[in-house]
Amino acid sequence: MSARPLAVVVLTGAGVSADSGVATFRGAGGLWEGQRIEDVATPEAWERDPLLVWRFYQSRRAALRAVQPNAAHFALVELERRLRAAGARFTLVTQNVDDLHERAGTQNLLHMHGELAQLLCERCGERLRDLERVEPAVFLPCATCAHARLRPDVVWFGELPYHLDAIDTALAECTHFLAIGTSGVVYPAAGFLQAARERGARTWVQALERPENAGAADEFVAGRAAEAVPRLVAELCARWLR
Ligand code: OAD
Repeated sequence: MSARPLAVVVLTGAGVSADSGVATFRGAGGLWEGQRIEDVATPEAWERDPLLVWRFYQSRRAALRAVQPNAAHFALVELERRLRAAGARFTLVTQNVDDLHERAGTQNLLHMHGELAQLLCERCGERLRDLERVEPAVFLPCATCAHARLRPDVVWFGELPYHLDAIDTALAECTHFLAIGTSGVVYPAAGFLQAARERGARTWVQALERPENAGAADEFVAGRAAEAVPRLVAELCARWLR
């Protein structure tokens, strides 16, 4: 049997951005101005009270402009660079809607829950990148069809995540899988670890505490991402790329 070519998939969650000052979901109590996050992150909430939902996302969009990638984001850029230089595959799947992976320099990146920096017209499907206009109570119209209210291009509860076909392809061929800073409770992302394991990949899980979906076969790396991820990347590169 010939060995499969080295193919690494990394799944990140809120924990990778925590050291940049971006609040995690469950750690923050899942609340925003006393609202459950699930109550402001659904299509029904947008229908019922668009201004509440827009204010929530405008505050998250504004907050993004004040944060920077941390050492964990940069270590994953280095991992991608080293793997690609060696002819190996690298795919980073993020549940995060911040833009810190791309600002750090990650190339092969799939935003499965969408992006705060992008807006979407529900009427004509036009997408707009904008992180300049973040006034809390001002809706932005679509420049293409004049629809009055663009929505954030993020995946809300009850909606289908993006890039599921590309993620499935990456998982099918992956030989090594790393889950970083994710509590492993929101599906389908929480199922990727098991999917990778079942397809024969070696698996690592990095977070403050052992996530719900981690099993005995996963190597658990405890600690803050900004410290633990650079160490882990250095160790894996030394092991894989001798
Ligand atoms: P959570 O807030 O559920 O989990 C954060 C994880 O990061 C936990 O496992 C923490 O242990 C870990 N963590 C916290 N600080 C860390 C640090 N400094 N270094 C390393 N790890 C740290 O966030 P997610 O798992 O990303 O979905 O949440 C998944 C999804 O649930 C989100 O994408 C969002 C949310 O509802 C949508 O919006 C669709």
